[in-house]
Amino acid sequence: MSIRVENLWFAYNNVPVLRGISLIAGAGDHIGIVGVSGCGKSTLLKLLAGLYQAQSGVVEVHGACMPDDIRKNVAMVMQNAALFPASIRDNITCGHPMSEESLWHVCEAAQLTEWITSLPDGIDTFVGERGGKVSGGQAQRIAIARAIAKNAPVILLDEATSALDDGTSSAVLAALDNLTRSRTVVNVSHRHETLSGCSRIYRLDGGRLYEL
Ligand SMILES: Nc1ncnc2c1ncn2[C@@H]1O[C@H](COP(=O)(O)OP(=O)(O)O)[C@@H](O)[C@H]1O
Ligand SMILES: [Mg+2]
Repeated sequence: MSIRVENLWFAYNNVPVLRGISLIAGAGDHIGIVGVSGCGKSTLLKLLAGLYQAQSGVVEVHGACMPDDIRKNVAMVMQNAALFPASIRDNITCGHPMSEESLWHVCEAAQLTEWITSLPDGIDTFVGERGGKVSGGQAQRIAIARAIAKNAPVILLDEATSALDDGTSSAVLAALDNLTRSRTVVNVSHRHETLSGCSRIYRLDGGRLYEL
């Protein structure tokens, strides 16, 4: 089993957000999650990413139950990709050793090659949180490249395309398709059309999941 969540409870300051969530995903399953703003979608993904610890219940991801171990098995793409104040290269590799060949392969999959090769400093161009020369779509594709480079079996997408206009969206969607193929995916989106490839879709409501 790739993801196993059983009777998961989570509260912020004693205010419960998740009230007994259960979810099973096999390897390669694509799960969609919808729900109104504030219902707890990002909280659930952060638990699946090992960024938070379950207060009660089980979260098991690719065989790991401890947050430190879970983090190694998961790559997450968030809504507004945060870049480090560093080069494009370092933003993708996160400092882990990677051959030039693999790096360019990842850039190609993330639809970044054309843009990067047009930059005077190429892949060593400095970007940052306020990197004025990087558009939202480019930052999102760098974040997707980082997720591809991590080569994790489980991919978590938190509104990964919602901040994009239609023009950049198609390049990012193609990049996402390359990232998610043959991996286990949990895709949170308020746009139903981005969930068309999902094998199952749930609505999160009142701290519980309902299959649609
Ligand atoms: N770090 C936090 N501290 C306190 N409350 C939080 C925190 N993060 C989120 N919440 C609250 O938990 C609820 C669920 O938030 P979130 O998981 O971000 O929902 P969604 O992603 O569905 O919009 C909201 O009411 C939100 O205000
Ligand atoms: Mg959210």
